[in-house]
Amino acid sequence: MNTVTRQRVLSGMRPTGLLHLGHYHGVLKNWVNLQHEHECFFFVADWHALTTHYDDPRIIEQSVWDMVIDWLAAGISPGAAKIFVQSRVPEHAELHTLLSMITPLGWLERVPTYKDQQEQLKEKDLATYGFLGYPLLQSADILIYKAGLVPVGEDQVAHVELTREVARRFNHLYGREPGFEEKALKACAKMGKKNAKMFKELRRKFQEKGDQESLDVAHALLDTQQNISIGDRERLYGYLEGQGKIILPEPQSLLTPASKMPGLDGQKMSKSYANTIALRDDPDDITHKLRTMPTDPARVRRNDPGDPEKCPVWQFHLIYSDVRTQDWVQTGCRNAGIGCVQCKQPIIDNVLKELKPIQERAREYEEDLATVRSIVDDGNEAAREVARDTLDEVRKAMGIAYL
Ligand code: TRP
Ligand code: SF4
Repeated sequence: MNTVTRQRVLSGMRPTGLLHLGHYHGVLKNWVNLQHEHECFFFVADWHALTTHYDDPRIIEQSVWDMVIDWLAAGISPGAAKIFVQSRVPEHAELHTLLSMITPLGWLERVPTYKDQQEQLKEKDLATYGFLGYPLLQSADILIYKAGLVPVGEDQVAHVELTREVARRFNHLYGREPGFEEKALKACAKMGKKNAKMFKELRRKFQEKGDQESLDVAHALLDTQQNISIGDRERLYGYLEGQGKIILPEPQSLLTPASKMPGLDGQKMSKSYANTIALRDDPDDITHKLRTMPTDPARVRRNDPGDPEKCPVWQFHLIYSDVRTQDWVQTGCRNAGIGCVQCKQPIIDNVLKELKPIQERAREYEEDLATVRSIVDDGNEAAREVARDTLDEVRKAMGIAYL
C-alpha cells in the first residue's frame, strides 16, 4: 500500500435535519468513493449539533437515524466504512477533556468560525463553553482515530489546521518517552541492514541540512515497511524529525470541492434558505418544486428570449443533462424556441431517476430499523476499539494511567 491509501479517513456530519441534494452531490458521493480506497470512519456528530441546538435538541434526536438511513441509501456501505454515532463513543469526550488542558484559549478564540457563527446565528446565545470548544472536540474526533485524511468543506479547513497544531503541541509535550532513542534504533533495525542504513543517512541529511527531499524519501521508505508496528513507525517518524515519538499524527484536510448543486432559487442549497430538495422528498413534491422554481426574470412571456446564465435552472442542467440537452437549452432559451416548463422537464426526469434507487433503499431501511441500529452498534464498537487504544496511549503519555 502506498502512503495515500494507507491513511485512515474520518469525517462527520451534524444531524440537524434531512439530507438534501446539496449534501449528496457535495459530500456523500465523495464519501462513497473514498470508502473503496481507504479505511473510512463516518460518524454522526450529535454533540457538535448540540453546541448550536442545545435549546431545541428534538431535531437532533430525529435526525440521527434519518441521517444514517440517508447515508446507507446513498451508498455508504457498512462493509466498507465504519458508521457510528459520536456520543456512543464517549472516548471522544475524554480525549477532548485531556486536550483542553494543553490548548491555549487564544487558539480557540482565533478560529474564524467562532466569531462568524456567532454573528450569523445572532438569535442564539453561542457565548458558551461548548461552542468555544467546538473545534477542539472536532480535533478529538480526528486524533482519536489517528486519521490521516479528513474530507471537509472549505469552512472546516481551519478546524483541521487547529487539530494539527494541537497534535504538534501534544507530541512535543508528551512524546518524550524514556529510552526513546534506543527504542527508535531498535525499530530502525527491524527494517533490515540496508534500509536501516539508508534511513539513518536520510535522517542525517534532513537534520543537518534541512533537506526536504531526504525527509520525503525517508517517509516513503517507512511507508513501505511491512515488518514494523504502528507504534514503531510513529517512533521512527518522530526520530526522523528529531522530536520524540509521534503519538497523535497530524491529519490533513481533503478539501471537498464546493458543491455545484445550487438551491431552487440559485443560492447555495441550504435548509435555512428553504430551497432544498431532500433525498427523501416525495416525487410529486420534487416535480412541483422544480416546475415552480424561478427562471430568468427577463422571460416574462413565452416568446421573450432568455439567458441561461441568469437562470438557476441552467445550473441544474449543468449537473443533470448531457451536452445535447444543454445545447438544446442554450439555443431554445435564447431564441425563445422552448418554454421554461419544457426546459425543466429533462431535469425533473433525471433528478427523479437519480433518486429512485436511493429512495427505494431508504424505504427498506426505514422499514427495518433493527438493521440500521445493528449497523450503528457494530460501527460504534469498531470505533471504540480504535479509540480505546489511542486513549490508552494518551493516558500513559500524560502520566494518568495508574494501574
Ligand atoms: N464540524 C463538522 C461540520 O460542521 C462536522 C464534524 C464534527 C467533523 N467532527 C468532525 C468533520 C471531524 C470532520 C471531522 O461539518
Ligand atoms: Fe431558464 Fe430554461 Fe427558461 Fe431559459 S428556458 S429561462 S434556461 S428555464
